[in-house]
Amino acid sequence: MFQGDITRCHVDAIVTAANEALAGGGGVDGAVHSAAGPRLLEASRGIGHCPTGEAVVTPGFELPARWVIHAVGPIWRGGRSREPELLASTYRSILARAEEVGATSVAIPAISTGVYGFPSDLAAAIALTTLRETPTPVQDVILVAFDSRTADLYRDLLSENRANPTDSDPTP
Ligand code: AR6
Repeated sequence: MFQGDITRCHVDAIVTAANEALAGGGGVDGAVHSAAGPRLLEASRGIGHCPTGEAVVTPGFELPARWVIHAVGPIWRGGRSREPELLASTYRSILARAEEVGATSVAIPAISTGVYGFPSDLAAAIALTTLRETPTPVQDVILVAFDSRTADLYRDLLSENRANPTDSDPTP
């Protein structure tokens, strides 16, 4: 877990919380586009569209990260529109795109929890569970919290996992 600005992460790939049109926007997407430079928007426009629950990858251009994974999380509509399932699918797609480009370290923001309104506690639990349950060659996943509430949520979930390791978890 890292609390701060994802654009400063020196990893193979950083993830941005994009929209289906890959049109850029505010929040983390705004920060990623301004740090990567205008070629990122050109590359996103070249791809053109990404359905909710999926992710696409472009170069990182001026970022320290070599790749940007543009992940489209669900808009929260009260919880009965498959939002949890779609958010889990977004996290699985991130790992799939990272694997395709050979990224072994990935930094991921709290997708859907800003403008898209997904409750932060539920989103954090889905993020952690999905990332732990998905087989992947990615070695390092950094959960990036921008605000202290999200940082606390991740910290609590990570320490619970340490206190109650599952049978498949080799760490004591
Ligand atoms: N580094 C890390 N996390 C950040 C940063 C940053 N620089 N800036 C904000 N966050 P949001 P969404 C956190 O709204 O809800 C955009 O316009 C923020 O505090 O960026 O998935 C897109 O183009 C929050 O915890 O993404 C889409 O249209 C988290 O990132 C739409 O917003 C996600 O907040 C996507 O909405």
